[in-house]
Amino acid sequence: MPIVCKPPSRAGSRPFDVRKVRLDFPALHQEIHGKPLVYLDNAATSQTPLSVMEAVRSFYAKDRANIHRGVHLLSQRATERYEEARKKVSRFLNAPDAKEIVFVRGATEGINLVAQSFGHSRIRAGDEILVSAMEHHSNIVPWQFLCRRTGAILRVAPMDDRGEMIVEEYEKLLGPRTKLVALAQVSNALGTVNPVRELIDLAHGRGIPVLLDGAQAAPHVPVDLQALDCDFYVLSGHKMFGPTGIGVLFGKRELLEEMPPWQGGGDMILSVSFEKTVVAAIPHKFEAGTPNIAGGIGLGAAVDYIEALDFQAALAHEEELLRRATAALEGIDGIRVIGTARHKAGVLSFLIRDAHPHDVGTILDREGIAIRAGHHCAEPVMRHFGIPATTRASFAFYNTHEEVDALVAGIAKVKEIFGR
Ligand code: ALA
Repeated sequence: MPIVCKPPSRAGSRPFDVRKVRLDFPALHQEIHGKPLVYLDNAATSQTPLSVMEAVRSFYAKDRANIHRGVHLLSQRATERYEEARKKVSRFLNAPDAKEIVFVRGATEGINLVAQSFGHSRIRAGDEILVSAMEHHSNIVPWQFLCRRTGAILRVAPMDDRGEMIVEEYEKLLGPRTKLVALAQVSNALGTVNPVRELIDLAHGRGIPVLLDGAQAAPHVPVDLQALDCDFYVLSGHKMFGPTGIGVLFGKRELLEEMPPWQGGGDMILSVSFEKTVVAAIPHKFEAGTPNIAGGIGLGAAVDYIEALDFQAALAHEEELLRRATAALEGIDGIRVIGTARHKAGVLSFLIRDAHPHDVGTILDREGIAIRAGHHCAEPVMRHFGIPATTRASFAFYNTHEEVDALVAGIAKVKEIFGR
């Protein structure tokens, strides 16, 4: 199958050609239980275009060697491709400097790195870390571990029943003891897009640094780190069409430079003796051991792919899918949409009266429709709404209106099976 990459075009200047884009994603063209696959689990893991597969394949086929170590050509080529990928990610996020981009396993590892390293140098007993009520477990548990270790206190900014942050309550929780704010830019369970610029300004007004969890944002809303001015930003490659097991931590230079390394080993040092070790400069001091080289290169290719799309048109198409699906579900008797924030991206969580989301997921799977059912690693969100789980459809730009209609037909089938 040919690799179809559209040249960059003026934002929104022509309709988004979803048929053409789908040709780039071989996984979309298969049957599941005899039905065409309708892949609506993009918030968990997106699919990968051919160009990303080719980047990874060509690394293994001709450039496979360790990085930063060899004088031989293969090692030099591998190093160049890995460091080039770092620059691509930096440019994509509009980070001030590629040295502020640390490769990690994913958003979860990025948050753990900050919790351990920044936590070690900056957090003391009685200090406070502020998260929101809509966080993924990965933006709760590392802070709980840190609090247990240091005697710090975890505070939670509440949300309302639409799934929107209550900004006045958030502001009240920013106090002299708050040492870090850690927030999702987009909620994985509800789809809420938080007003992060405003939330960052409120924290910065009190001198408090902010970490944004961009795992659900980077592929669904434009991200400009210099405009956001956040202090840390994390994302996962597998949610933005890249390989699994690769992600990014952005940190402002002065913070990363001040933070101690979190893991020791090869590649993160300048010199080692039994008496003394001198660590390398950023970003390498946070990248001990042989990294996921193919993953980094693949992530760079994913960035190339996104940048070659008409991204504004792709996002407008995605928004249209969400609007169509939401309107259809809201019109069905017995459906409750969970998360009705005014600004949402990519995610539609819902319940079908009396049908457990796992049963819904199983029935939809028989129809070829892949969704996620469960608490979405956000149990506090479920608790807020007094429910154990939801059924979640999540969209990417390669989904179609027909796939939304297939979801609606699948839901009708679920209702039929449950006799209502
Ligand atoms: N965090 C991923 C999700 O929301 C796995 O499904």
